[in-house]
Amino acid sequence: MSEFNPTDPKHVVIFDTTLRDGEQTAGVCFSATDKVEIALALAEMGVDVVEAGFPVNSASECSAVAEVAANVRGARVCALARAVPKDVAAAGEALRHAEEPRIHVFVNASDMQLAHQLNKTREQVIAMASAMVRSAREFTDDVEFSPMDATRADRTFIGELARATVEAGATTINLPDTVGFATPDQVASLVAFVRGLVPEAVISFHGQDDLGLATANSLAAVAAGARQVEVAVNGIGERAGNAAFEEVVAGLSVHGERLDVATGVELRDMGRVSALVAERSGVGVPPNKAVVGGNAFRHASGIHQDGVLKQRETYEVLDPEAVGHTVGTQIVLGKLSGRGGFAQRVAALGYRLSEAPLEKAFRRFQVLAATKPEIDDADLHAICQ
Ligand code: KIV
Repeated sequence: MSEFNPTDPKHVVIFDTTLRDGEQTAGVCFSATDKVEIALALAEMGVDVVEAGFPVNSASECSAVAEVAANVRGARVCALARAVPKDVAAAGEALRHAEEPRIHVFVNASDMQLAHQLNKTREQVIAMASAMVRSAREFTDDVEFSPMDATRADRTFIGELARATVEAGATTINLPDTVGFATPDQVASLVAFVRGLVPEAVISFHGQDDLGLATANSLAAVAAGARQVEVAVNGIGERAGNAAFEEVVAGLSVHGERLDVATGVELRDMGRVSALVAERSGVGVPPNKAVVGGNAFRHASGIHQDGVLKQRETYEVLDPEAVGHTVGTQIVLGKLSGRGGFAQRVAALGYRLSEAPLEKAFRRFQVLAATKPEIDDADLHAICQ
């Protein structure tokens, strides 16, 4: 279990929203049992906050969140609420048995969303957000506030909302890139700006992946002083999904020393949690997916194979076993493979060929590889006999 310590300037809080925003993936529906099982796995691997759902949505969602709250220990359990009284009451009720409850209050904040969706003025929004943060504080000391669409909103207004909600009792200010619009430099500048206005709060970033920038934006947020990132396992979530848990956590691990930050997440459990979420969500992991994809540590070209056989780090930025890939680095034989990779695979099958027979076998391999995408062990036996 991770040590949740928002006062440690190095600690980046990992807020996992697989069970809330992740469930907003088209076609995904988690049962209460799924939610509890996934939440327990996340807590076990050191995630700090598990966002379990949006209780006001339905009676079954409310009771699923309540089940997560009653079962998870060692991680905070969070429930989402719009800045309206019935949402905050439902979140408070669902979290009644949580060891460490958090209520996450959000409201539209960009002028576009205020005009076309909420039909409220900025002054009204500040008043409702502050009132609902105050009301959430009656249930718990741990209240997060999100001005939705923050990256497209007026910056002065985001600052006013942040200041007002922190004064009302919010302890975390989350800056959502709701439509996945922003670039890393814009995120960094927004984080630094808000951080300067509310230094007493933890600044968080919530990245959506519409432009494929969610991971880069999350790391830029941390570099600019954010100390919470919101992520979902396998990057599932609304539309193109959320910042992927495994990418952001692995990125923070690889760059942790330079950024002077750390998470409490045990990377070795990544593969297991990724497989669990893929199975329960029905959303498969693409082979080329960073960190947890089936091809993430499979090397196909001769130059790369030669390098990893000499020294793994020449073509790998992560140790596959350290992120839960049980098979480890793999040499995949195909038409782009070279002699080094071929010789290694043949030796692994037990053939001890001297130079001339090995060269002959390699030529046979090349002929076959020109007709077949991947040469397997059965092919190698046929080639070497
Ligand atoms: O995308 C978004 O803006 C959200 C907020 C509720 C954080 O999911």
